[in-house]
Amino acid sequence: MDELNKRERLKELYFKIKDCDKCELSKSRTKFVFGSGSACAEIMLVGEAPGKNEDLQGLPFVGQAGKLLDELLGSIGYKRSEVFIANVLKCRPPGNRDPKVDEVNICKGYLMEQIKIIDPKIICTMGRYSTQLLLNTDRGINGLRGRVYKMDNRIIMPINHPAAALYTPSRMDILRQDFQKIKNLIDSGGDLSCVNNEALNPENEVKTYKENKNEQLGLF
Ligand code: URA
Repeated sequence: MDELNKRERLKELYFKIKDCDKCELSKSRTKFVFGSGSACAEIMLVGEAPGKNEDLQGLPFVGQAGKLLDELLGSIGYKRSEVFIANVLKCRPPGNRDPKVDEVNICKGYLMEQIKIIDPKIICTMGRYSTQLLLNTDRGINGLRGRVYKMDNRIIMPINHPAAALYTPSRMDILRQDFQKIKNLIDSGGDLSCVNNEALNPENEVKTYKENKNEQLGLF
């Protein structure tokens, strides 16, 4: 699909879903947060759900976590406008509570459609919710982050959520390192043999992922 087509299809999707009222969150939201960035992005970053600022502005990651994300993207030579940033949920859960299972199930189709249209080479899942959804696993983020998985011919790389890193200095260091791994991955053109591989630890294999016959690539 060419650039114009992707943009048009993304716009169509936006107009189709922006007034969604399929779950309770539609009643308390200020704005529907579709996501933002380039329709032709090679990198897509997926967070959890809009927070207060995002709900007010209708844009993803515009608060403190967003500032950090901009800085991390800058550290690997990217502007926010060159990637696409989205969330699992498009509407803010009241009081920033965790997403509920049924909310994720109702909303996930929108994210999947975005992924299909944009067709990014790499998806960085930020935090537990997007990671578990896109890798189809219930494993925790700590055992998954910094590793590289392949699914539907694209790379999924789970990383810590920037908001979590803001509160935990050790996670911040890990997040910065993981961004460098993303850069290595891009520089290698997705050829993972160029990336510093660690021996695969069977303990860390994602079972449901394997059962789904998806291929796990070399682990860092
Ligand atoms: N946290 C998220 O997961 N998404 C946002 O858009 C903002 C904060």
